[in-house]
Formats: sequence, structure tokens, C-alpha cells
Amino acid sequence: MLEELHELQRQLHAELDAIRTAEELEQFRLRHLVRRGTLGRLRERFRQLPPEQKPELGRILNALEETVRKRYAELQQRLEELAEEQLSYDLFLPGRQSFLGGRHPIQQVLDDIVAIFSRLGFVVAEGPDIEDDEHNFTALNFPPEHPARDMQDTFFLTADRQILLRTHTSPVQIRLMRALPPPIRAIVPGRVYRNEEINPRSLAEFHQVEGLVVDRSTSFAELKAILVAFARQMYGAQTEYRFRPSFFPFTEPSAEMDIRCFLCRGAGCRVCKGGGWLEICGCGMVHPAVLRNGGIDPEEYIGFAFGMGIERIAMLRLGLDDIRLLYQNDLRLLRQFR
Ligand code: DAH
Repeated sequence: MLEELHELQRQLHAELDAIRTAEELEQFRLRHLVRRGTLGRLRERFRQLPPEQKPELGRILNALEETVRKRYAELQQRLEELAEEQLSYDLFLPGRQSFLGGRHPIQQVLDDIVAIFSRLGFVVAEGPDIEDDEHNFTALNFPPEHPARDMQDTFFLTADRQILLRTHTSPVQIRLMRALPPPIRAIVPGRVYRNEEINPRSLAEFHQVEGLVVDRSTSFAELKAILVAFARQMYGAQTEYRFRPSFFPFTEPSAEMDIRCFLCRGAGCRVCKGGGWLEICGCGMVHPAVLRNGGIDPEEYIGFAFGMGIERIAMLRLGLDDIRLLYQNDLRLLRQFR
């Protein structure tokens, strides 16, 4: 019987090892653990053994039954846990869609502008939204009677009109020149404010990116090269462009850059208002008086600057004909872009 017990032990453990389902476990119980099962019948035979054999075989039989029942209980528990997990994790259900926030189109355009100018060696700088007349106008060479100072355009914060919301990012040119020794090669993104009627083409609050380069030697040719490189990366390698003479108090000479309308390619359409060209930025060589106001000697240094509106670029990119759409946060519009 000793031999038989060892054999049975091997067999039962091998069977337990092979059990994978609750059904198989139940078959195991019915075969071996019920009263008339393998172990029950073995106990009946055990009772009929001569007394002198009982102590040793009894110990072995008890140990066998104990380990088998223990493993049975463990398996039962494990299989129940698995069954519960399967109830709560249905791997065939479609996944829950997680909602990822997106960057606003204006931020996307700004990020693209920053990326392009970073590759061209520009650093990013910022200035305050609340400015004084000195930085916003006077140091930028606006004559005292210049119409841009008019109540129509500027939100003044004090009755003496000395403190105001900046009307452009150009005052940061003065801050940069006063804060940093040349060479300066920076772009300045920021929010600007104008006391204007809100309509499909204009807002009272919008964004600009200013650019400023001051060095011992630079030129209008380099200004053009930088802006052409920018336009090609922003609007496509084949982008046609032109520079038109213009006027800004803080640059001399001044120009505006147009690109060919990407919608009609010059034929004339609603985006370019029939003209075939889209104005994308103002620019020019920094006026010597402005360099001097920035504490830089115009005999030693020369600079160029440019400024562009971000909303306008976003509108062109998205094909919007109403600037106000950019500020309504309508998900139907925002979801269409990236
Ligand atoms: N500050 C000008 C504006 O708001 C834009 C501008 C034009 C900026 C020419 C410049 C520049 O730096 O050189 O209309």
C-alpha cells in the first residue's frame, strides 16, 4: 500500500497541475475528494489494515489528503478570482475614447513662427502689456501729433495718457536695446490692444510677433532673406512674394511684404479681396533715432525689424473670413485643426 500511496500522490499532483478550468476542478473533486472517491475508498481500505501498519501509513495518507485538499482549495479560489476578473474586464468591449486637449489655432501659428525663427537663430523675448507713452510711441520716433496716439486707437489707462495698453509689440524693441548689448536677434510674441470697433476684420485685442536684429553689420538684403526664408517655411517653398515701400516712424526705409494669395494664386478671390496678394508683415531698417533711444550708437550698429499679426496668419491658414471665429471657442471649428 505504501507503493500505491506514493504512486497516487504523484498522480493527484500531476492532475492538479493540469487543471485550467472550474469544470476540470469539479471533475477532480468528484473523482477523488467525495466520500466514494479515490481518497474515500483508500480510507475504507486503511481501516481494515492490521493495526501495526496503521501509524506509518496513516501519517502518509493524512499528509497526502491534506496537501491535495489544500491545493484544491487554492485552485478553487484562484479560478473564482479569474472568473470575477473576466466579468469586470471584457476585452472585447471597444475602448473608451480619451479626450486630449488641443492647442488653439492661434497658439499653433505662434508655435510655428517661433520654431521657424528659432532655426534662424532668433531667441524669444517678451514685454509687458501695460506700457508707457515713452516705450509705445516716443522712443519709437512717433512725432507728438502722430494719429496713432489718438484716442481712437489707444486704450489709455491714465488721464494724462502716459500709461496705456500697448498698441503693438514694437515697444519691446526699446526694452531689448536698453537691456541687452548687441548683437540682438530676437522675436517677441505678445498681445496688443487697439481701441477699435469689433467686426469681421478687426478686434480690440489681438496678437503680434515682433522681430529685431541689431548688429555691427546687417542689411536690408538680410532682412529680406530672413523674411523670405520665413515665408517659404510658413507658406510653402514655392511661395511668391513681393516687397512694397511703406512707412513706419521707427524704420527707415520701411516696407511691407506680400505673398501670393494661396487660394487663387493671384487670379483674385475673396481671401485677397481680388488683389491676388496678401500682406503678411511690416518691416524695415531700424531708424537711427530709435537705435539712439535704445542706447545704441547708430554709427556703430545697424538693425532691422519686422512685425506681423498672428490672427491674420491663422485666418489665412484656416480660410476664415471672420476674425471673431477665433475667439468663440466653438469646438466644431477648433476640432478641425490638428
Ligand atoms: N508695429 C507695427 C504695427 O503694429 C508693425 C511693424 C511694422 C513692426 C514694421 C515692425 C516694423 O517692427 O519694422 O503695425
